[in-house]
Amino acid sequence: MKHIIAGITTLLALGAMFLVFQSDKEVDKLSHINKFIAKTEIKVKLDNSQQQREQTTETDAKSIDAEQKQKQKELDDKLQALKNKAGNVAGFKVSSLYRQKCSSCHGVNGEGIIGPKLIGDSAEKVYSALVDFKSGKRKNYVMYGLLSKMDDGQLKSLSDEIGTFEQKKNAQ
Ligand code: HEC
Repeated sequence: MKHIIAGITTLLALGAMFLVFQSDKEVDKLSHINKFIAKTEIKVKLDNSQQQREQTTETDAKSIDAEQKQKQKELDDKLQALKNKAGNVAGFKVSSLYRQKCSSCHGVNGEGIIGPKLIGDSAEKVYSALVDFKSGKRKNYVMYGLLSKMDDGQLKSLSDEIGTFEQKKNAQ
């Protein structure tokens, strides 16, 4: 009888031990799962911050790009302003007649735009061209229209003036 009781007790004890062992394993598993979750959380966090960092570097690059473009534009504008200044102010002075009637096509200093370059032409060459345009011998509607309202004195003085352009330019 004693033996039987001892046997049952032993079995119970073994069963209890087994149960404890099992539950220990469960706990272990749980802690494993917890650790795993924690790890993935960290990983996700890391991934997020990585993404954010990438985003910030991207926006940084973009804003730097935009800033550089802005600066380049400012520089270009300044350069253009300087060029305009050089074209209008730094050149030699011309008569108001030339400036008003001729410069829009032949340039502020006769350098040529729509109309041909006049700088370097002699007064005689310009005068004979003007006379020919006015008489219609040389056909050009623009020049003809313009000169038809001018008298010979104006043609002469414009020709004389244009004849001095080269010299004035070289004297700058
Ligand atoms: C609306 C534009 C325009 C204006 C303003 C103008 N010209 Fe002209 N001019 C021309 C064109 C275009 C020609 C070229 C015509 C051709 O060769 O048939 C020309 C040709 C000439 C020529 C001959 C140049 C050459 O090399 O054969 C002279 C000189 C001339 N212009 C002087 C003047 C004078 C001076 C004025 C101001 C009174 C003037 N032009 C105003 C457009 C213009």
